[in-house]
Amino acid sequence: MILSINPKQLFIALDSSDADAALSLAKTLAPTGVSLKLGLEFYSRYGGAGLAPFCALKMPIFLDLKLHDIPNTVAAAVRNVAALGVQYLTVHAGGGSAMLRAAVEAAGSNVKILAVTILTSLDSNALKEIGYSGTPDQAVLRLALLAAESGCAGIVCSPQEVAAVRAVHGQRLSYITPGIRPLGSDTGDQRRTATPQQAISAGADFLVIGRPVTGAENPAQAIKNLLN
Ligand code: C5P
Repeated sequence: MILSINPKQLFIALDSSDADAALSLAKTLAPTGVSLKLGLEFYSRYGGAGLAPFCALKMPIFLDLKLHDIPNTVAAAVRNVAALGVQYLTVHAGGGSAMLRAAVEAAGSNVKILAVTILTSLDSNALKEIGYSGTPDQAVLRLALLAAESGCAGIVCSPQEVAAVRAVHGQRLSYITPGIRPLGSDTGDQRRTATPQQAISAGADFLVIGRPVTGAENPAQAIKNLLN
């Protein structure tokens, strides 16, 4: 069955250290109705002030900072981000329940906290190297439970785990999946990938997609292709 994808469900990752290029791409994409994701690459160069022209576009913004620190420090950072006008912010679920609760409390009602479970660039061997036992699926389920019990609005996981997590938590969480690759495109450093249709069919609410759109000759057309 082909499920229709709403453009708002697509967070286009503007992974760029060039604010002019990123803003120009965002303006090109605005008429398609997609949402934006800005992350560490942009934020480490331009900080919160650099986000203002993107917020002015009125496209939903997901600030992907993947915070991971002691609860007090994360809470202070989340309070600062909550004043910027973005709608979503990521923290690492591996920061533990106290850190997650502190982030949720500091965010208030302005920003939704999304917990990153296991990066989609990590496979089983990479997980073993950092001392995680079990498969990526088991680690994602453990961390999703932590996120749900700590009041997070959603989790970020690979398209390959989303069905199993949704089966446990249903609509209590939103499910955001990076690692999206249209058929035939380059996987790059992503390891646990799926096509947009596969990810939505598996239960993702939002898809994060970067290079297949930002690296396309015609990014707006690449989005149209993704939606059809
Ligand atoms: O270019 P690509 O489609 O691989 O971009 C994916 C985006 O999603 C990047 O900005 C990356 O930081 C982010 N991300 C990820 N895996 C996660 C969380 C976020 O790839 N678990």
